[in-house]
Amino acid sequence: MELEQHEYDVVVVGAGGAGLRAAIEAHESGARTAVVCKSLLGKAHTVMAEGGIAAAMANTYPEDNWRVHFRDTMRGGKMLNHWRMAQLHAQEAPDRVRELEDWGALFDRTPDGLISQRDFGGHRYARLAHVGDRTGLELIRTLQQRTVALGIDVYMECTVTRLLTDNGEITGAFGYWRESGRFVAWQAPSVVLATGGIGKSYKVTSNSWEYTGDGHSLALQAGATLVNMEFVQFHPTGMVWPPSVRGILVTESVRGDGGILKNSAGNRFMFDYIPDFFRKETAETEAEADRWYEDKKNNRRPPELLPRDEVARAINSEVKAGRGTPHGGVFLDIASRRSPEYIRKRLPSMYHQFKELAEVDITAEAMEVGPTCHYVMGGVEVDPDTEAARVPGLFAAGEVAGGMHGSNRLGGNSLSDLLVFGRRAGLAAAEHALKRIDRTHLREDALADAARAALAPFDREGGENPYTVQHDLQQTMHDLVGIIRTEPEMEQALERIAALKERVANLSVEGHRQYNPGWHLALDLPHMLVVGECIARAALERQESRGGHTRDDFPATDAEWARTNLVCSRAPDGSVALTRQPLPRMPAELAEIFEESA
Ligand code: FUM
Repeated sequence: MELEQHEYDVVVVGAGGAGLRAAIEAHESGARTAVVCKSLLGKAHTVMAEGGIAAAMANTYPEDNWRVHFRDTMRGGKMLNHWRMAQLHAQEAPDRVRELEDWGALFDRTPDGLISQRDFGGHRYARLAHVGDRTGLELIRTLQQRTVALGIDVYMECTVTRLLTDNGEITGAFGYWRESGRFVAWQAPSVVLATGGIGKSYKVTSNSWEYTGDGHSLALQAGATLVNMEFVQFHPTGMVWPPSVRGILVTESVRGDGGILKNSAGNRFMFDYIPDFFRKETAETEAEADRWYEDKKNNRRPPELLPRDEVARAINSEVKAGRGTPHGGVFLDIASRRSPEYIRKRLPSMYHQFKELAEVDITAEAMEVGPTCHYVMGGVEVDPDTEAARVPGLFAAGEVAGGMHGSNRLGGNSLSDLLVFGRRAGLAAAEHALKRIDRTHLREDALADAARAALAPFDREGGENPYTVQHDLQQTMHDLVGIIRTEPEMEQALERIAALKERVANLSVEGHRQYNPGWHLALDLPHMLVVGECIARAALERQESRGGHTRDDFPATDAEWARTNLVCSRAPDGSVALTRQPLPRMPAELAEIFEESA
């Protein structure tokens, strides 16, 4: 077998914000570090976090601090977040933003020259450091520039198909170059997974083709565990029209900067959907909500800025009740609330996106929007301080890691999450690797087995085309494990996923190994199926509604489930095993924060 081999201390899989931040830290800790990414460097879902990085810098509101950010994050996640992750995140985010600025990120400023911070759903104070509506792009640009300047090796357009282990410990990773189809292996005692999410398992998503749950599935296969997989975030506002752009993100900044949601009758319907949990701090009349835009300190927040799960469910209900727009969404109106100059300055990408893709001028007309699968809260179960998974040598950071966001992530908390935990993962991965003086060589049989598995779709003749299987999986997840779930539907989803697994085992691909997208998809599909199974199994088990998991048959939150996490692991026969695990206990000094009034 022809195989290119490399040796490093730390291999980072994924080059979004978490991956690049991890690689920078590992490199600066003295570890020989490489980044492997499926796509071109700089093309990552990080750029879809458009509106900003949440960090309690107190530039706009001096009364903001990490304790309030911690409390907002926990409440947004309906208290299922790992408290220690939420604490570290809130405490360290401001330093990570300032560091990014030191590295060259150009943030928008307040009139007195501080980093400007904008409003987003579920945050008590305006705390999103931003660059217009292109914050994720600026973050990636900055980290990418630093990665290149530091001379870190980057393997672009390279897909990892297997993590390599020996005696239960990580020894490296195996993959292929997408262009040539040739195999490549990296020997390394530490691997950091930063592969992002799973959105491509759904039919309508803000994610692009790369997000097929590879890291989730590779981790599970290597013996790690996944936590909170039932919680999938549907961002309330994706484009709904024209069909070719359905699902593309419409940033929450539109609402943060004053946009309002209306149904086909012209009603500002979010007032009808304020949950008790948030009633004290949410405006209940239009006048009260409007006053907040003028004098944010003293008034209650508008209901459009409730956490995402609440807004997505409300939009879903309006459309189901027949009060949707012609293309099955609702209206998002900023034109009647802000001047064209303000809109073009604060939301330049949204202005161009709608102009070019939908022929809609958002300074004059309302947008049509609806929920789109944006983010998975569930992911690899990690130690909060080091991001170490249960397999020695394996680390995970960013969207592929679970625990930080509980049952629902607040907008803006993803960019800060990937900076805080990317750095921590890089540090711990370097430390782990530099202690390993005796390196385990990659086993020939393991490499041969990985190659055989990757080539299997070429060896079968007359099998099914991978695109039809992908289509059927996306439809299944959309119809049966989407925003609103029921037991019979999820049971049906699991039956369909089992049938899809059989079909995947018989896929065949035509042509050669040189740039062959059908083959690439055939290798992604097992990941997508295992992720789909984890989501459906966990969602069926959790008999309550909480955050990004809504059961029509169990509409209430349940105090018992507030103490329980669901954890997926790989059973000896290769299937997904599900266990209940008690939540870690929050220390009293953090629990007290929930009594504070600020
Ligand atoms: O709406 C947005 O700009 C997305 C931000 C995020 O997902 O954090």
